Amino acid sequence: MIKIMRILAIETSCDETSIAVLEANKDGPFTLLSNIILSQIKIHAPFGGVVPTLAKREHQKNLVPILKQSLNEAKLLKSQKSKVKSQSVNWRTKSKILEEILSREPELLKKLMPFLTKYGRPDIDLIAVTNGPGLEPALWVGVNFAKALASVWDLPIMPVNHVEAHIIANWLPYSVIPAKAGIQKAWMPDQVRHDKKDTIKFPNLLISQFPAISLVVSGGHTQLVLMHGFGKYEILGETRDDAAGEAFDKLARMLNLGYPGGPIVAKIAAEAKKQDLKNVRLPRPMISSKDYDFSFSGLKTAALYFVKTLDKKTLKKLAPAICLEFQQAAIDVLISKTIRAAKEFSAKTVLLSGGVAANDLLRGTLKLETCNLKLNFSVPPKEFCTDNAAMIALTALCATKHKKPVSWEELTVEANLRIA
Ligand code: KG4
Ligand code: ZN
Repeated sequence: MIKIMRILAIETSCDETSIAVLEANKDGPFTLLSNIILSQIKIHAPFGGVVPTLAKREHQKNLVPILKQSLNEAKLLKSQKSKVKSQSVNWRTKSKILEEILSREPELLKKLMPFLTKYGRPDIDLIAVTNGPGLEPALWVGVNFAKALASVWDLPIMPVNHVEAHIIANWLPYSVIPAKAGIQKAWMPDQVRHDKKDTIKFPNLLISQFPAISLVVSGGHTQLVLMHGFGKYEILGETRDDAAGEAFDKLARMLNLGYPGGPIVAKIAAEAKKQDLKNVRLPRPMISSKDYDFSFSGLKTAALYFVKTLDKKTLKKLAPAICLEFQQAAIDVLISKTIRAAKEFSAKTVLLSGGVAANDLLRGTLKLETCNLKLNFSVPPKEFCTDNAAMIALTALCATKHKKPVSWEELTVEANLRIA
């Protein structure tokens, strides 16, 4: 039985390249040894959204330097004991396999070869990687990178669902020990300690209260999930068109505000004047529908029609009010359905996560509403709401309790992977 397990996690499903190392004692507590995230926002900003081919190129360019940085921070970067003999039979066989695995990622192969000859196998027990859902070309880079490392270092791989990882991000600041009967503490984020090196030591708290209703809102996904426990999910509803974050991004593009839209729209909304708000009304699509589905493209279209009626000067004046009303409309629908689901399924806990969960109004309002109903509420710290490999590592750790890892030969990408 392994006493300490170290997981190296890789995330490349969209426009963030991220590698983390998580160390876990058997049955927790766990420590995040490193979590390096490189955002491609500047690359995609001129296009107003993520361009998959550019994302693939950037992941290829950045994975090896980020791996080096991440292992270094985790104090696991070791030079080879003896120089790898490039002509040795063993290395020739390994490099042949590497060439095959990374045949579609030649840039990555070029950077990985010298890294592997210079540095030895780190003290890692498992590789975790996002294999879906996400942008297919971007996912393949991370998955092939995981395969390459696993083949050279002879390690198993735990494939991770990106949406599940957003949910599990709620446990990042805490221990992962499953709740013991009778212990029902409230979540205590203030007990998370930051040490000098800015790694986070997780105290041995337990606090999971199921069933939980989980709202995952990001640039690619909007799902309402009923969670019975780790690995036990039911999708109650999801968006029928645009994801919530995508809608924010499209509004920002429409108003020429930049990319990504969510944070900019929220910032501009804060400047809205009361008298202007009376002149802007947007719909709350599907707020009264009996299901738990969402639709955000209607909201975007309504905003577009309204914007088209305005001259340049009025648009400039009303832009903050449009942002505020848009944000409020999206949040009204999200919260109304989440609370209705929490009541219908007698949830003990409401979990919020995904990039849009960084929105202060959404965090604040859902916290208040769940507090009124005496429900537990959790939302990850903002840095764990947007894409990161720490959440991939922790999801893999949870998965080790009920799933077997796979070999590198078995691993594949599932761009439309679902959690249930
Ligand atoms: O989870 P994430 O990093 O990537 C995906 O898995 O899609 O989410 C990115 C999305 C973007 O659409 C961005 O506009 C949105 O999250 N976002 C926000 C805020 N911060 C990021 N949306 C609303 N308010 C925010 N403060
Ligand atoms: Zn995401």
